[in-house]
Parts: sequence; structure tokens; C-alpha cells
Amino acid sequence: MNILVLGSGAREHSICWAVKKSKSCEKLFCSPGNAGIQKIAVCEFINLKKKIQILDFCKNNSIDLVIIGPEEYLADGVSDYLQNKGIKTFGPVKKAAKLETSKSFAKSFLLKNKILTPKYRKFTAVNKAINYLNSINFPIVIKADGLAAGKGVIICKNLNEAEQTIKLMMKKKKFGDAGKKIIIEEFIDGFEISYFSFFDKKTFLPLGYALDHKRAFDNDLGPNTGGMGCFTPSKKVSKNLEKKIIKNIIEKTFLGFKKESFTYRGILFFGLIIKNNEPYVIEYNVRFGDPECQTLLRKLNTDFLEIIASITKDELGKIKITNSRKSVVCVVLASKGYPESYNKEILIPNLKKIKDDEKTIIFHAGTKNLSSNYFSNGGRVLSVTSTGKTIEEARKSAYKVLKKLNWKDGFYRKDIGFKNF
Ligand code: GLY
Repeated sequence: MNILVLGSGAREHSICWAVKKSKSCEKLFCSPGNAGIQKIAVCEFINLKKKIQILDFCKNNSIDLVIIGPEEYLADGVSDYLQNKGIKTFGPVKKAAKLETSKSFAKSFLLKNKILTPKYRKFTAVNKAINYLNSINFPIVIKADGLAAGKGVIICKNLNEAEQTIKLMMKKKKFGDAGKKIIIEEFIDGFEISYFSFFDKKTFLPLGYALDHKRAFDNDLGPNTGGMGCFTPSKKVSKNLEKKIIKNIIEKTFLGFKKESFTYRGILFFGLIIKNNEPYVIEYNVRFGDPECQTLLRKLNTDFLEIIASITKDELGKIKITNSRKSVVCVVLASKGYPESYNKEILIPNLKKIKDDEKTIIFHAGTKNLSSNYFSNGGRVLSVTSTGKTIEEARKSAYKVLKKLNWKDGFYRKDIGFKNF
């Protein structure tokens, strides 16, 4: 099969890495890609906002399957468009992507299907939202309804913070149109995990979970980011809890899909919060997480491309997923200043000296190659992903490589995998 991957993050690098290992992969393309992906795939520029250009590329390169990484292209209906033109895609259609692009849609889906989720109210008027604050206890969670690059969820400890947040989202339009509508949600005091399952029309197949670190700095301080690191497994996630997640959440979601006017084919990311051993859904994402994907694909022993290809034929039922027993730790190296403003095109001098090995793979995100040197090209720059018999072993390997990289213009959290509960 000839494969085209859309995206440029470390998530897409790990997807390319996993696809490339498959015996069914003939030619691998990625757009736009990055300096790491360039080493294993042909990276081409396609204007991804122009669907016809994607289609032309597919026709010209005999592409059999397009794997769509980021949510923005799913929200834009790239999957629908390509499927209608006879090209197979991995990634749900636009109607299904609403589970991520509209928090209120996701919430009403959850309620309709009796899936445990924090209580909420939705608002389109600032004054009504502010008035509502007088009738509730704090802390609360305020969420922009639409896509906000992982930054549209704010925990407010008191009335003042909540009022400011509502004004920021709805009046000052901090997240543009994504904040026209907001959700005010009950705060559940628990721990978060990201759980993943594949879906096709006939069945679902759980992949596993990872624990993400969303805040920029150690001890969960600083602003929210796309994710600064991950680990799997966690001592707090028992077999019993996983069974509950599969039965009470994933299966109910699958049954819920049967009542909708869309078919969900792809991976679904369940953002869960666990309190008293009860999983609550706090969000759905219609794609792999980043850095969760880099973490989970290091454990996957089943041929990744075969899983994806089976979904396009509604043959997921024929696949058995096997994951290795390894622990995985992934630490993100980001440009200083991320998630706010940061400089680009800064040399990462030691990167070309470090070779991947059995334990550690460096997945690239915001990187580019200029005169055989690696330069930064984004906020999150690298995902250093290590395996080990234990979390501690994996963590040591990852941090050893980060020390060797010794990138003065970047930063990373020093506590990934320490909080193994
Ligand atoms: N790491 C969280 C996300 O991908 O949304």
C-alpha cells in the first residue's frame, strides 16, 4: 500500500515510524512532515486547506490510504471529501468529528447514552453565564465549546476567576469563535488518563492508555500546553478499572454511535478523570493524542497499518491487539517560551550526534533541516520516547538523552514518570 500521512508533529512522526515497519507499506509520504519524518518518508508540501490539492497528490502518487493526524483537517471534512472521491482514509468524517469540535455536542451524546460525565450547563450569553455563577460552588471548569488547540479548558477557583474567564472567552474572544458558546462544568477532583480505542462500523478494539502532563512546568504548574510528556502504565489503573472503562464508557459509546447519523471509523481518545475508582468522560478527541500516540505506538506489537486498513473495510473484528509489557516514558522538549511566544530556526547542535537505539527513539515535531543541521521550527520540538522494564528504567533512559541533547534554547519537564501514583 502507498500511504500519505497528514501532519507535522511528533504524533505524525511516530505514526510514520509505525506504518513504515509494516510489511504492507510500499511507499510512505507525509505532508508537511518535519526533519525527522523526512528520514523515513517522502515529505511534500500540499496546501492542506485545499482538499483538491490533497486529492491530486493522491491520484498522482497512487495513494491507497490517507492517515489524518490533526483534528483541524477532520473538522474541515477532509475524510468525507477523500472518501467521496474513492480514497480510503483513517480519521472520522466531519459529523463524527463534532465529538471534539463541539463540547456541547459531546456532552449531549454522553448524557443521551448514560455515560458518566461531570454535570454541566451551556451558555451563549455572557450575562446568563455570569448570573449562573452565583448558584454554584467552586472550583468549576469553564470550556470553550469549539477547538482551541488544547487551551480552551480553564479551572476557576473562585467567582472572580470565573467571571474573568467568561469575559475572556465570550467578550474578548481569546479563542475566536470557539468561545462563542461555553460550557460550565462541575470540577471532579481525581486523576486524569487518556484512553484510546479503535472503532469501525461493526466493533471497537481498545488500544490502551497513557497519563499526559498538560501543564508547562514541573509539579503541574504553568499554562496548559498540548502535552509535555506521558507515561504508561500506571499503578493506579487496575485491571478492574480498565474493565469498567471498556464496559461503561467505550462499549456505551460504540452503542451510542449506532443511533447517530454517522459511522465512526478511526481512533477515539477518551479524556477521563477517575474519582473513587469511577471513570468520568471529560472530553472526546477524534484522533490520537500527542504525546500519547508516541508513547502507545512504542508498545504496540500488532502491525499498525493492518489495524488501520482493517478499519476502512469494517474488518476490525479480525484484528487482535498485542501490546508489549514494556513501560514507556515520553518527555517533550519545547522551545523556551512555549506555549506563548517563542523563537524559531534555532540550531539544536547535538541532535545529529544522537542515534536512536533499542530503548530510545526521538520523534521530531517542530524541526527543520538546513544544511544538514537540525533547527527548531515550532513550540514542541522533540518527543524523547524510551522503553524499559519499569517506568523508572524508561525514565532514566529518556532523561539521559535529554541531558545529552543539552539544548540551551529549549526546556522540558523534569518530573515525567515520577508521579507514578
Ligand atoms: N495530549 C493531549 C492531546 O493531544 O490533546
